[in-house]
Amino acid sequence: MTDSIAQLTIIQPDDWHIHLRDDQALATTVAHAATSFNRVICMPNLVPPVKTTTDAQAYRTRIMQHLQACDIPAERKATFDPRMTLYMTDHTSAQDIEEAVKSGIVQAVKLYPAGATTNSADGVTNINALADVFGAMEKYQLPLLLHGEVTQDHVDIFDREKRFLDEVLVQIIAKFPALKIVLEHITTSDAADFVLAQGNNIAATITPQHMMLNRNHMLLGGIKPHLYCLPILKRESHQKVLLDVATSGSPKFFLGTDSAPHPTDKKETACGCAGCYSSPTALALYATAFDSVGKIDKLEGFTSRFGAQFYGLPLNTDTVTLLKSPMQIPTSYPYFDGSTLTPLMAGETLPWSIKA
Ligand code: DOR
Ligand code: ZN
Repeated sequence: MTDSIAQLTIIQPDDWHIHLRDDQALATTVAHAATSFNRVICMPNLVPPVKTTTDAQAYRTRIMQHLQACDIPAERKATFDPRMTLYMTDHTSAQDIEEAVKSGIVQAVKLYPAGATTNSADGVTNINALADVFGAMEKYQLPLLLHGEVTQDHVDIFDREKRFLDEVLVQIIAKFPALKIVLEHITTSDAADFVLAQGNNIAATITPQHMMLNRNHMLLGGIKPHLYCLPILKRESHQKVLLDVATSGSPKFFLGTDSAPHPTDKKETACGCAGCYSSPTALALYATAFDSVGKIDKLEGFTSRFGAQFYGLPLNTDTVTLLKSPMQIPTSYPYFDGSTLTPLMAGETLPWSIKA
């Protein structure tokens, strides 16, 4: 509820799409994620990728070790719950899916078309050869998380998501109509409309950057490498539709930051990495976006209810309070080996902040 001093208490949010990376990176990324989120779905595009249940178990253990070591309040440590995903390759089998389901620690399987994005070289080259895998996922209701872009060299970068919907996703849905699917980090009105037209087993995550920014922010007046992510920011009309559906109260759209850390020097270079780092300030970013269209009352569904409902998980029982009091996004955070992370909208002031 909102009151006159403009503060809003909501159920503690979950992040259904985050990149925590591995090893030394975890000291920073786990502390940031656990400060704002309870459940987080950990993307498996490590080097090497998280391909098996055994890999996932080991990765979760490393994350939990860093959680214990980090300097955040004990109650945040107590509720942080990283959920694992497997990275689908051309060699994933139905048996891998059965093992994952039996383990109880694998929440979903991520499909990167090979070459689509960061660490996707081991991704899928032929979706048609994976019918057994999709069949097993449909049978066990293990969600398929999609990086929804085609990767043929000749396809324009701004058209890749729409082409994926038309050429790939329609076929998957036709063959596996009961498969649970999350179209991750959607960037176009085409994707929003597509998801709205499907049954309740198809949902989407939306990042803060795709609802707040468009390609003019990235390219006008000079290239802003910290706004470069994949799928790439699209034109303003798409951004407006994403903000519209996110704030509509539709349970098909929920929070997934796609917070993807890359050291500042790997972003500010001749061939910069794709990814925006938003985890530490994501809640204030989303609150700012929702409030900008007078829909702060719809924030809690998006941040804290719809994702859990889709995954069949209980709602969190603790809460967080957001304040309508300005907060400056840090210009950078220390990362490992002396490097830094430049967050999304670094140095900018947001009207919303999180109550300590
Ligand atoms: O911008 C992105 N960065 N998009 C992705 O799909 C992957 C991510 C990363 O891992 O850096
Ligand atoms: Zn991602």
